Amino acid sequence: MEFDTKLIHGGISEDKATGAVSVPIYMASTFHQQKIGENQYEYSRSGNPTREAVEKLIAELEGGTAGFAFASGSAAIYTVFSMFSAGDHFVIGNDVYGGTFRLIDAVLKRFGMTFTVVDTRDLAAVEEAITPNTKAIYLETPTNPLLRVTDIAAVAKIAKLHQILSIIDNTFSSPYVQRPLEQGVDIVLHSASKYLGGHSDVIAGLVVTKDDQLAEKLRMIANHGQKKKYYHEVLGVNSRLDSIQAAVLNIKLNHLDEYCSARRKVAHTYNDAFNASKNIITPLEVAHSTHVYHQYTLRITDGSRDRLADYLTDQGIPNMIYYPVPLYDQNAFKSIKGDIDFLPVTDQLCKEVISLPIHTEMKKEDQDRVIETVLSFFK
Ligand SMILES: Cc1ncc(COP(=O)(O)O)c(C=O)c1O
Repeated sequence: MEFDTKLIHGGISEDKATGAVSVPIYMASTFHQQKIGENQYEYSRSGNPTREAVEKLIAELEGGTAGFAFASGSAAIYTVFSMFSAGDHFVIGNDVYGGTFRLIDAVLKRFGMTFTVVDTRDLAAVEEAITPNTKAIYLETPTNPLLRVTDIAAVAKIAKLHQILSIIDNTFSSPYVQRPLEQGVDIVLHSASKYLGGHSDVIAGLVVTKDDQLAEKLRMIANHGQKKKYYHEVLGVNSRLDSIQAAVLNIKLNHLDEYCSARRKVAHTYNDAFNASKNIITPLEVAHSTHVYHQYTLRITDGSRDRLADYLTDQGIPNMIYYPVPLYDQNAFKSIKGDIDFLPVTDQLCKEVISLPIHTEMKKEDQDRVIETVLSFFK
């Protein structure tokens, strides 16, 4: 099946119990058992048909054999790390989502896991950071927030060479443009609260693997560490995706290709309009990558960014300065920033960036109005 066909017909596209052509929202906590073990479903934490539909679909889209859906991307990350134990070491990318760092610092280190943070684009640094206790390389590509791109196949190769796992957060790319399992990665995970859910409609997390042993372990951890009801092998997690969010995600996923290509089209229209302006730098698409434009961010190089923001707001054009204060200058880090008084590139970017409206259903006349208003400011 082609990817866009899978989006619509992949996973479970019919309800076996009723014949419904889209999967119903099963809210029940408990499923009736005539005989023990007869019904595939018994309790919704262990298995729920609505959640299972989205789990099957993401497994197919990522080219895996087993998918797992969680209450959030953070819950998915926590569950994956819960497969490991005190004393285990991880090599982790230096620009992963801030919440992942907070999870590591506030929780996983307390559980006795250790981490070496490296720029995963530097393959020699990745390999050098591996110790005899290393169990996995964990990275994001592209990263949030800096959109740094790592060579996935090369990292997977290093992991295999050292007989450790490779785990990738694929949130910022989505299987529409990037399928890490096909490049040798062991586990791929998502905050489905972002692209997969079409942004802003659900909070959800997804994990996929094509390794049966890893799948079995993940299934156990995700179900309170039990393989058999009431028999807990290890400490587990209870953070499954609920049926309503699963049903919404199931429908939203059908449109992933349209969402991503529509955003790209809006971005390219903006690029064409702004590229000629000497005061504007448009976003860069790195070689070998396909940008799906979570945000569309310009750099305004003549020092007028704040005035442009006010002008756009006055004209009724929403705009946003994401991350206006650099990390090193945040109050939370004042006590550890040492002698750093300024970081010239960071500080300059913080003064230059401005993000314009971009969304999947953006009409041509709205795009034109944004373009005309931005250009009229520079006239
Ligand atoms: C790359 C990435 N991974 C994971 C997460 C966490 O996902 P959630 O917000 O669904 O818990 C986020 C959230 O912003 C993210 O950007």
